[in-house]
Amino acid sequence: MPNVLVLPGDGIGKEITPEAVKVLEAVLKGRSTSLNFEYGLIGGAAIDEVGKALPDATLAAAQAADAILLGAVGGPKWETLPAQERPELGGLLKIRKALSLYANIRPVKMSPMLVDASTLRPEVVKDVDLVVLRELTGGLYFGEKGRKTNPTSAYDILIYTEEEIRRIVELGFQMAVKRTGRLCSVDKANVLESSRLWREITVEIAKDYPGVDLTHMYVDNAAMQLVLRPNQFDVIVTENMFGDILTDLASMLGGSIGLVPSASLNGKKGLYEPSHGSAPDIAGKNIANPLATILSGALMLRYSFDLEEEAQMIEQAVEAVLAEGYRTPDLAKPGDKVLGTREMGNAIVEALVRN
Ligand code: NAD
Ligand code: IPM
Ligand code: MN
Repeated sequence: MPNVLVLPGDGIGKEITPEAVKVLEAVLKGRSTSLNFEYGLIGGAAIDEVGKALPDATLAAAQAADAILLGAVGGPKWETLPAQERPELGGLLKIRKALSLYANIRPVKMSPMLVDASTLRPEVVKDVDLVVLRELTGGLYFGEKGRKTNPTSAYDILIYTEEEIRRIVELGFQMAVKRTGRLCSVDKANVLESSRLWREITVEIAKDYPGVDLTHMYVDNAAMQLVLRPNQFDVIVTENMFGDILTDLASMLGGSIGLVPSASLNGKKGLYEPSHGSAPDIAGKNIANPLATILSGALMLRYSFDLEEEAQMIEQAVEAVLAEGYRTPDLAKPGDKVLGTREMGNAIVEALVRN
């Protein structure tokens, strides 16, 4: 039986991961594959318990597991620690790097019934269906960082190797082939040397994919175009920090960041987590939207376990519950039926049982 390591982490991470586990158990009930769930500590929760954001036991369990489901890490309580010890750098970035999870897939798709939940005009967002493929183990996040004194200064090095660029861009082309054949590579090649290397390699790889319509866009324009005319995009491939920023922006094309799942992959090995953070402002109130985490569970079934049918069953159950007018507060408008985190999880389970 495959092992899934569940790492709830901090803030709403503790509230949303149980809902995803519940849904995974429900969709696999009576089917040929079942999953064994194990639990571990990461982030602030791990600092509080054992003094380290990524305990050795968690890393060992993650290396041994077939897949990982993560909630979110971080919060005000740990913000005063030295940067490298904090939940974000010492926990999340460390586990991504240790497992070489270089490919971060973040799909944004507008559900027909959420068109007016977006802050953008319905005609702009109604057909949005795009994927951001974010490089996850290189760039500014992992280059050398430091301080200098006299005069005081600080630096973060943005470095990419040819191999790091090649493997993520290849994957971008492969995804574009499976979708509508459009790939937009987002960079800042008018300024950054690392982006010029990125572009050179992308143009070279494009020769192997004559059927893919490749475009290049500067990241500042891409941010504007995403809001202006999001339907021009199918697959976006980009470096680590550009992808971080653009996916929070793109989340509003689908109505809420609480709906955007993610898969961080190295082949079949994957860590699945919502694209949002630990949301300290709403933690502990049973109001967080668990759907991004539940949908991350669907991505786990698809990418780590080849259970496409079961993945789609979860995605359809989410659509069905939204179509019935149920919403967590982040998506609710007057007249909607508002559910809490747990109640939304239960509604998805009930929809699975019904269908
Ligand atoms: P955030 O994503 O946690 O929250 C941003 C805003 O979105 C908040 O108003 C929050 O209430 C709302 N929000 C986020 N997820 C939601 C959900 N599921 N349902 C309803 N509303 C939701 O970003 P932030 O406030 O910038 O960061 C808070 C903490 O989370 C920080 O410590 C940050 O470093 C960390 N963080 C962690 C991850 C991760 O673990 N992958 C990602 C982003 C931020
Ligand atoms: C994300 C988060 C992380 C990132 C932070 C918490 C390190 O914002 O997963 O999008 O920037 O990768
Ligand atoms: Mn982010």
